[in-house]
Order: sequence, then structure tokens, then C-alpha cells
Amino acid sequence: MNETAAPRTAPLRARAEIDLAALRANVRTLRAHAPGAAVMAVVKSDGYGHGAVPCARAAVEAGASWLGTATPEEALALRAAGLTGRIMCWLWTPGGPWREAVEAGLDVSVGGMWALREVTEAARDARTPARVQLKADTGLGRGGCQPGEDWAELVGAALRAEREGLVRVTGLWSHFACADEPGHPSIAAQLTRFREMVTYAEGRGVRPEVRHIANSPAMLTLPESHFDLVRTGIALYGISPNPEIGSPADFGLRPVMTLSASIALVKHVPGGHGVSYGHHYVTPGETTLGLVPVGYADGIPRHASGTGPVLVDGKWRTVAGRVAMDQFVVDLGGDEPGPGAQAVLFGPGDRGEPTAEDWAQAAGTIAYEIVTRIGTRVPRVYVNE
Ligand SMILES: Cc1ncc(COP(=O)(O)O)c(C=O)c1O
Repeated sequence: MNETAAPRTAPLRARAEIDLAALRANVRTLRAHAPGAAVMAVVKSDGYGHGAVPCARAAVEAGASWLGTATPEEALALRAAGLTGRIMCWLWTPGGPWREAVEAGLDVSVGGMWALREVTEAARDARTPARVQLKADTGLGRGGCQPGEDWAELVGAALRAEREGLVRVTGLWSHFACADEPGHPSIAAQLTRFREMVTYAEGRGVRPEVRHIANSPAMLTLPESHFDLVRTGIALYGISPNPEIGSPADFGLRPVMTLSASIALVKHVPGGHGVSYGHHYVTPGETTLGLVPVGYADGIPRHASGTGPVLVDGKWRTVAGRVAMDQFVVDLGGDEPGPGAQAVLFGPGDRGEPTAEDWAQAAGTIAYEIVTRIGTRVPRVYVNE
């Protein structure tokens, strides 16, 4: 059975509750942080694990005027779901679905000559101009066009294609390397490089609708990076890009996902009892153990073995021993929560539960990875739609 199709009222092994009112409020907060810029809701990777389509709809309702995805397939799925506004996608490989993207009116990122050639060809076949956003590598050292000769060649070719009616250059854009470390010297260097590359392109005749470089950390901490549009992912879902720059509450944001599971079993064990694979936890004395029926197949990081926090019966417990594929154990210290008791792995944190950030710290990763990895076996339950 596909658990994601489980009716809302059925008792669930596990659930990721998605609070769409929180998401809408986050979008409104972000709009207030960047009053002069449009907001792009980044819903790649299934809305960072929250569900791309419901989150996209809620974000648009709350005033996001753009949606952003990595892959064209993600963007086409949004279009197919009836999202009619501007949608941009940026992670292309040769032979990608350029024609479908052009026909669907997507804004596509082009960071090199091969991509410009493929999109131009698709536009010719589709007899529709492609909406192209030229991507500059201003210092991230990942995707995008290098400054200098490469940029001059790409801008020149895009303008020629525009004159032929094959493309419309709708945007000039880039992406930060270290925006989550305010004061990092690369931030100012990238801004300077971005301005230079935009000035060059505009000087040659490009008339972009939007110029953009800011992700969540830049939009929250660096107003001069807002330009015409801010691309916000993690902040939309109510998570701080880096706890060192502020908590969600500091920025007026509220976490959207609450992950919980029904305790499957509570049992008494003597002291000295090994727990889970490898016996990395041994009960220090007579105690009760609770079985939490989610594991690394559900996206619970195995790296949180022995460290992940869980709220059960009003108290924080810690993953005892290894996280297995489908389940892990917590030491309940003699408590005996009744049948149907809930283990809350993470949520907004204001009902005593841990947060995704707590799990990130327990697993030695970032909260982005915690929410994005929650697997398809965990039903998303939407509240406050
Ligand atoms: C190109 C691009 N823009 C924006 C974002 C959103 O970043 P954040 O989640 O930090 O807002 C991402 C996500 O990694 C991205 O790849």
C-alpha cells in the first residue's frame, strides 16, 4: 500500500505534518524583509521535503510571485499541477527537455554556450521564444558562466538569438558561496563581480526583467543583495539558514514541518541489555524501552545514532544505539507511555519538542538535509490549508 495515500484520519505509523499557515506567514515575513524585491519560493527537491505543489500553492497565495526549482522536471510538474505563474529552473544537462520547458513558458537558466544552443534550437522547433536567464558565476565556483571572455561570448550570442526572436533574456542571476557567514570576504567580492557582469550585459543591450543573487541567508542579512528578486528556500520552511546568524524566531519565521511517529512497543528490560544493531547502547539499569517505527529509510540520519533527540511523554529522550532502516529505540527510563503515544522527532520547538536544527546538530549536518531527506514512505499531512 502506498502510505502517502493513507486517509488523514487513519492511525499513522509516522507523519510529517506540514503547517501551510506557517508557510504562508513565513512568505509574508520574507516579503517584509525585502520590501523592494519580488519573492521566489524555492520548492526544489519536493519543497525541501515538505511537498512541492501544496507549498508552491500556499507560497503563491501569500504573495510569492515566482517559483524556483533545480530540475526542469520539477518545474514541469508544477506547471502540470496548474501553477500558471512564473517558474524558473536552473539545473540543466545536455539533451534536457528544453522544448517542453519553452512550450510550458518556464524561465530557464543558461550558463554556457551549449545550453544557449540547445534552448535556441528548441525555441525554433516550438516557434515560441524561450525565456532565458543568464547565469553568472561570480565566485561560487559551481554552475554559471565565468566572467570575462566567456560572459562576453554568452551575452553576445544571447542578444543575437533575441534579435532573431528565439529567446527573450528575462534575467541575469548568480548564487552566493558563503552568504550564511556574514562578513565573509567572498560576499562583497561576489556582489562587486555581479554588478560588473550585470553592467556589462546591460551595456551591450540586455534588458532583464529581474536581476537576482540572494538566497535565504543573503535576503535575511544583506539588503544590498536583494536587487529585483530574492530566491528563498530554507527560510520559507521556517528554518534558519545558519543558527549562528539567528534562530527562526529571531527572523520572525516558524518551522513548517513536524515529524512524529506512533510508539510501536514499550517493554521492560533488565540492566546490561544491549540495544539495536551492534549493541552500541547497553541499558545502564532496569528500564523501559520504546520502539520508534522510523529509520534511515524514512530519512532519519543514521549519523544520529546515540544522539538524536525525541520528545516522548513530555520528556526529551535520546536515540539508544543505532538507527536502523525502519526503526530505532529510545530509553524511556522506566516511564510507560500508553498505547498510541507519540514520539515527536522535531517541530517548531514551542511545544517542548526538538527542532530540525537539533537533529542537524545531533547528526553533524545542516537542517536543510534533515527536512529534505524525509522519505516518501512518511505521509505528508497538510494542516491549515
Ligand atoms: C540557485 C539557488 N538559489 C536559491 C536557493 C535557495 O537557497 P536557501 O534555501 O538557502 O534559501 C538554492 C538552494 O540551494 C539554489 O540552489
